[in-house]
Amino acid sequence: MDPLSAPTLDEARSLVQAARKPLLFTGAGVSAESGVPTFRDRDGLWARFDPAQLATPDGFHRDPTQVWEWYRLRRRAVRRCVPNAAHRAVARFLFARPDACLVTQNVDGLHQRALQEEGEKGDGKWGDADPAARVFPLHGELMGDRCPGCGSREPASPERDSLPTLPSCPGCGELLRPDVVWFGEPLPETILDAAMEKAERADLCVVVGTSALVHPAAGIPLMTLRAGGKVIEVNTEVTVLTTQCHIHLRGPASLLVPPLLSCGDADAHLGG
Ligand code: OAD
Repeated sequence: MDPLSAPTLDEARSLVQAARKPLLFTGAGVSAESGVPTFRDRDGLWARFDPAQLATPDGFHRDPTQVWEWYRLRRRAVRRCVPNAAHRAVARFLFARPDACLVTQNVDGLHQRALQEEGEKGDGKWGDADPAARVFPLHGELMGDRCPGCGSREPASPERDSLPTLPSCPGCGELLRPDVVWFGEPLPETILDAAMEKAERADLCVVVGTSALVHPAAGIPLMTLRAGGKVIEVNTEVTVLTTQCHIHLRGPASLLVPPLLSCGDADAHLGG
């Protein structure tokens, strides 16, 4: 069945419109149509690369050059990608709904770029709305460098990324690392706490493009469920979450998320 004509899409839209505290929870699938590879699909990153070597503190300790080469390659690839219709719909939703928030596992920064672009396009239409404060990136930022020594952070720079040497902290001289969460590391505490509080209070969690396999992030929709809220899932496949969802919408995020989150005519004319 055409996913756009499925009766469940209308039903899901009604839930979104009626929700008083909607939480959007996204994973790599939301960026797949922007050209950013997912992790666990057949051609995903973890089918081609070893996470133990590239995404763990031990792997970095053993071979920082290899880890940095891989992250610099990913950064170069993501710099060429642009937000897709799903990112734009999420951004417009956050502007239009001050009661909504976004918890994302993605490190590619495409949600943040879409927010900035939609804000500029809105040209005052959104008033004082500041959705950036309602975005909770659980797994860090691909485009950030962090010093494990003094904890300082700075945005990644294409110039520094193209140097033949590994980057070091301008403050303390320590070897910098990408500002992402690796396997075996805790999530940033303040962001995780805020996201969990939002999840418990949400009356609806819209889950888009995640295999929902990596905890603690994957616990977010489960917290909404346990607190009595509803869950809508958008995914091209069935996941471990599907049987627990109230509505599963099967199909690509760029096709389904814009109509699902559309905030009415004023929003629709901006286009997907
Ligand atoms: P996964 O690669 O595990 O899952 C991607 C999900 O997106 C799958 O369920 C796909 O079916 C779905 N999908 C693919 N294309 C889609 C599309 N166009 N529209 C809708 N859904 C689509 O990615 P995550 O769940 O995000 O962790 O992975 C979670 C974490 O594991 C990541 O944040 C990363 C990784 O290791 C860290 O970097 C710490």
